[in-house]
Amino acid sequence: MGIIAKNINKSFGTPPVHVLSDISLDIKDGEFISLTGRSGAGKSTLLYVLSSLDDPTSGSVEIADRDITQMSSDELYRFRNQKMGFVFQFHYLIAELTAIQNILLPAMKFNEEVIRRPRAEMLLEQFGLKEKINRYPRQLSGGEQQRLAIARSLVMEPKYLFADEPTGSLDTTNAESVMNILQDCSRKQGMTVIMVTHDPDFSKLADRQIRLADGRIVP
Ligand SMILES: Nc1ncnc2c1ncn2[C@@H]1O[C@H](COP(=O)(O)OP(=O)(O)OP(=O)(O)O)[C@@H](O)[C@H]1O
Ligand SMILES: [Mg+2]
Repeated sequence: MGIIAKNINKSFGTPPVHVLSDISLDIKDGEFISLTGRSGAGKSTLLYVLSSLDDPTSGSVEIADRDITQMSSDELYRFRNQKMGFVFQFHYLIAELTAIQNILLPAMKFNEEVIRRPRAEMLLEQFGLKEKINRYPRQLSGGEQQRLAIARSLVMEPKYLFADEPTGSLDTTNAESVMNILQDCSRKQGMTVIMVTHDPDFSKLADRQIRLADGRIVP
């Protein structure tokens, strides 16, 4: 179980530029991992490969005993939507949808918007967005949009959360509150979290800190 990455290499272009070199990881279910390293170290690339959004050039990634690099696109689509949550470095909210519609988007794919609605409302409240439920993204501040994107990643109660600097554009109070919610989900629901962060204080809160330098894990 958990996430097992074996000898991941990733390069881009011709001639190939190596971005990830021989990365192996064994992440237990429910573990909270922080991923740190300088800009360009390969953090986002590793997160994409671990979460099936990008293929490694070589190596394998197993999640819950399934090799995601070998899954058909149909299987992957279901697996991703039901088991994984994503918070991107640049959040993608849909401009034409309101806050509540945006947060319920992952549920709509499975016709679950009705049963997920109470959870969506609870998350909006936890993230301090209760009053903004019917606003469009352009009517929200940058930090509110970021919190909405995080809330959306949690609406399906994912077993695995991949978060790329989820607290990047938040003030200290809101960043701490987001960290608390993520830790809570990890401890109470056994959610596995892999979180990229530049904040040393948040990194220390993780069960395990992994540092990347030039595409390699720093021992
Ligand atoms: N699609 C791509 N094509 C070519 N090069 C890429 C591509 N994606 C990333 N890279 C390169 O790979 C390296 C690692 O990028 P990555 O986005 O993983 O860094 P990062 O650690 O997330 O940095 P940051 O902290 O700035 O977000 C960088 O040198 C980047 O330019
Ligand atoms: Mg990045």
